[in-house]
Amino acid sequence: MKIIENNETKGVLYMLSAQELATALNISNVRMKQILKDRNLDFLRKRENGKIFVPHSTVGILLKEKGQEIKPEILSNFILKGGTGKSVLNVNYSCWLAERSLNPILLIDLDGEACASNMLLKEQENLDNLVTIYEILKNNLQIKDYVRETKYPNLFILPARMKALKSERLAGGRNPKTLLRKHMKGLAQRFGSIIFDMPPTLNSLTVSALLTISKLVIPINSDIFSIESLYLTLDELKEYAEEYECSIPEYYILMNKFQSNTIASSEAYKEITKNFGDRLIPTQLKFSAQINNSVNNGKTIREGCARELRASFDEVASYITGTKNNQELAQ
Ligand SMILES: Nc1ncnc2c1ncn2[C@@H]1O[C@H](COP(=O)(O)OP(=O)(O)OP(=O)(O)O)[C@@H](O)[C@H]1O
Ligand SMILES: [Mg+2]
Repeated sequence: MKIIENNETKGVLYMLSAQELATALNISNVRMKQILKDRNLDFLRKRENGKIFVPHSTVGILLKEKGQEIKPEILSNFILKGGTGKSVLNVNYSCWLAERSLNPILLIDLDGEACASNMLLKEQENLDNLVTIYEILKNNLQIKDYVRETKYPNLFILPARMKALKSERLAGGRNPKTLLRKHMKGLAQRFGSIIFDMPPTLNSLTVSALLTISKLVIPINSDIFSIESLYLTLDELKEYAEEYECSIPEYYILMNKFQSNTIASSEAYKEITKNFGDRLIPTQLKFSAQINNSVNNGKTIREGCARELRASFDEVASYITGTKNNQELAQ
């Protein structure tokens, strides 16, 4: 899906130009515009060049009629190492997208520690009563029927709680290639992006999520263990992808808790640039007590951090959304 900057909303809109949609549907641009008009479907005209853009909902309707499916971006900040910032990044990235996207965003919490759920759910929500991935798997339910609103507009969540730990046992032995996909029907029509938050382990459930995502961000800290985990995570991913005949997701490496004045951070930076080149996101996120405090106070980076950090996070998030790497819609 192409992401464009819209001058009126200053937002990121998950939309295609009419020309791109016409190509995906194999019809002419003129015919495309006619269909939009006749059917009274939503589209957006960009003022300065008169080009029209088609939102997610319209793309979904038209592609479905052609027997094709719209593919939302499915993403995760994941690494096989605890504490590198996965949940903070997944939560903040989801909020960042939800603020800018015309389409709703969904975070699926697969971590029994429920860090993302605690940060995002409304205060009065009691985690004990909510349906989690555990009930979804156990009772063969569809995620789309159990997503909850979060305290942020346009952002929804399938929450987790301690019981989610049991879902790992429940999932054991099932085929990870189909395990989650079976429960994700209907999500593509509703959500522009889906973000998984996961514990730093490999089990049927997390492997299943990793085989589902189209984009992976690997957050590392500036220590030898993070770098070892980075290699391990990529190796494991390749092995699973081979075993289940899937392709590995497009991946990026993000240096989090970066301290430019330390030898550890500059050495880690050198090693990653040497071995991974343009996989490294050019902006680092500094180590900052403000991020830690904002997490403790249930706030996002935008709500709880100073301008410099907010700007760094904006750069990171814009990079991840892939204004640089537009995805093919119809495959
Ligand atoms: N840039 C940063 N500067 C300072 N503290 C940070 C930064 N990023 C994350 N943290 C802190 O690091 C801790 C771990 O973050 P987080 O819970 O997101 O990691 P995680 O990778 O999800 O951990 P787990 O593996 O346990 O799920 C939290 O206390 C968080 O506030
Ligand atoms: Mg976490």
